[in-house]
Amino acid sequence: MKSDNTIKRGRAPSPGKSDYPVRERADREKGGPPRGEDQRFQKLDKVLTEYKGSPGTLIIVLHKAQEIFGYLPEEVQIYIAEGLDVPVSKVYGVVTFYSLFSTVPRGRHRVGVCLGTACYVKGAANLRAELEKELGIHVEEITRDGQFNLEVTRCIGACGLAPIVTVDDNVHGRLKPENVSEILGRYRLH
Ligand code: FES
Repeated sequence: MKSDNTIKRGRAPSPGKSDYPVRERADREKGGPPRGEDQRFQKLDKVLTEYKGSPGTLIIVLHKAQEIFGYLPEEVQIYIAEGLDVPVSKVYGVVTFYSLFSTVPRGRHRVGVCLGTACYVKGAANLRAELEKELGIHVEEITRDGQFNLEVTRCIGACGLAPIVTVDDNVHGRLKPENVSEILGRYRLH
């Protein structure tokens, strides 16, 4: 967990200081609607208003933000940090600690390949390569049809089944690269 007040690829905002007009200009320059007109940010504003000032609400707010946006990109993390008046590093630390939060878009099915030690020594790198080949994407990407996204996970405590791949809440263990196609096939039509 980072101890400073920065997150990947981003600048840290000044706590308590609004740069909203600057953001709106930046949003327009990017071709998207300004946040004041983005219904997702309007929903998030309501959540922030509801929970600001209550202790221990960061995880609840992150949950709700992920429901609204589908994932937690950097700009949403910064927005939440400003809205709750907490350090961006704290938000980033929570988002990266809990695997249920995602900083990248998720597909209909979330595929995770564990690169923890036990899985790695049993060939997880080969599974990752096969998954990337089979899905036609790299880690942290989503397939064109939105069916799958691919992530690397840490140990989930199923080392006895190493190497493992998770699809949504299901664990597929003792996998070999030649099993990957069949496993994905079970989810393709659902
Ligand atoms: S290292 Fe993969 S489940 Fe433990």
